[in-house]
Amino acid sequence: MKKVLVMASGFGSNFEAIVEYFKNKDVCIELLSDKNNAYVLKRAKRLGIKSYIIPFNETSNFFLKHKFNLVVLAGYMRILPKEVLNLAEFINIHPSLLPKYKGLNAIKRAFMSGEKVSGITIHYVNEEVDCGEIIFQAECKIEPDMTLEEFEEQIHFLEHMHLPRVIEELIK
Ligand code: GRF
Repeated sequence: MKKVLVMASGFGSNFEAIVEYFKNKDVCIELLSDKNNAYVLKRAKRLGIKSYIIPFNETSNFFLKHKFNLVVLAGYMRILPKEVLNLAEFINIHPSLLPKYKGLNAIKRAFMSGEKVSGITIHYVNEEVDCGEIIFQAECKIEPDMTLEEFEEQIHFLEHMHLPRVIEELIK
């Protein structure tokens, strides 16, 4: 059976979308969080998903012991060093059309900059933040009368729709 690890430190809506998508499929999803109070851990418990709480400085040890077909960063707010990246295949989801709006608060920055179009990017992870090879992008129009909240909702909708399918393609 294929094994996918989701790494997340926060809210975990993408994690839940992934779990739901693979529910009746032959794929094992597990969760790693670096924060013991992250909301995503509650989701894992409710969904019956195995979770690991691993402090950031123990990440490399973790991947020496545990093997996965793919590792998905979904709101894991840390930069992984090369020694960790060498131990598995990592992808990341980012809420902008990279290379635009790398880094934090990308949704708000795109919105405030008066962009007419933004979107999401799924990419391989390398040592530079939000810079790895792009695997998939989806666009979202920013209508003149849209609020930031509505735009955020659209972005998350796109993330939840596309990330599980991209994962499925990559582990095929
Ligand atoms: C997503 O917007 C993702 O693009 C970014 O972090 C956010 C995580 O959201 N990297 P959630 O924790 O999955 O709800």
